[in-house]
Amino acid sequence: MIDIQNLSFEIAGKTILDSVDVAFEKSSLNAIIGPSGAGKSTLLNLLMGLYKPSKGEILVNEIKLSSLKKNSRQKYRQNIGMVWQDFRLLPKKNVFENVKFALEVINFPKLEMEKAVLTALEKVGLSHQINAYPRELSGGEKQRCALARAIVHNPSILICDEPTGNLDLKNAREVIELLYKVNKNNTTVIIVTHNVDLLDNFNGQVFLLEDSRLKLI
Ligand SMILES: Nc1ncnc2c1ncn2[C@@H]1O[C@H](COP(=O)(O)OP(=O)(O)OP(=O)(O)O)[C@@H](O)[C@H]1O
Ligand SMILES: [Mg+2]
Repeated sequence: MIDIQNLSFEIAGKTILDSVDVAFEKSSLNAIIGPSGAGKSTLLNLLMGLYKPSKGEILVNEIKLSSLKKNSRQKYRQNIGMVWQDFRLLPKKNVFENVKFALEVINFPKLEMEKAVLTALEKVGLSHQINAYPRELSGGEKQRCALARAIVHNPSILICDEPTGNLDLKNAREVIELLYKVNKNNTTVIIVTHNVDLLDNFNGQVFLLEDSRLKLI
């Protein structure tokens, strides 16, 4: 469970988040919507422990994220699958290697790596591009690769920043369905999106981030 308490964040003299109070329950499905520049990605960076709150706290299973030592913070992050808005794929590694790298950095059992990577790529429908390098992929394929990398280690929390931003409607719906499936396997899923249409049959909590405030709608 992630409990955000009275969280404020300022950068360059500008208040991005103001007194945000919200909890993401274990195994819950959540969406955060809001206009461009509202602070959605900033909030995700705070959740990952990459930014420090100006005020307030993020509690993870009742432990303050800010009080975690480097090792524990790394462990916490390893338990999260993250799809970045700009993908962050490694340009010199192909699709297979990009996904495998996520396992290498967490010391996943070597003998099980290949199978886990192939399974993740199959889940996202990218098995046919296994040897391609990021520069050879379409926007949607990069997105799928980033998603495979985020789910390959079966994280307990999956955070996706605009996971359908580069997909046409049909593919976007497929990715959303996949995220629902991941959630059904007891993963807490947090989806950030502009695309409210995608949340038609969304069966979770929807939050609106606007004017530095996060509200349940
Ligand atoms: N390092 C930084 N220095 C100064 N301002 C920043 C920094 N990072 C983010 N901001 C500002 O914080 C605000 C929120 O940015 P953020 O990327 O969180 O928005 P967003 O809601 O994710 O937008 P989008 O939907 O376009 O991705 C923006 O006005 C942005 O310019
Ligand atoms: Mg963003």
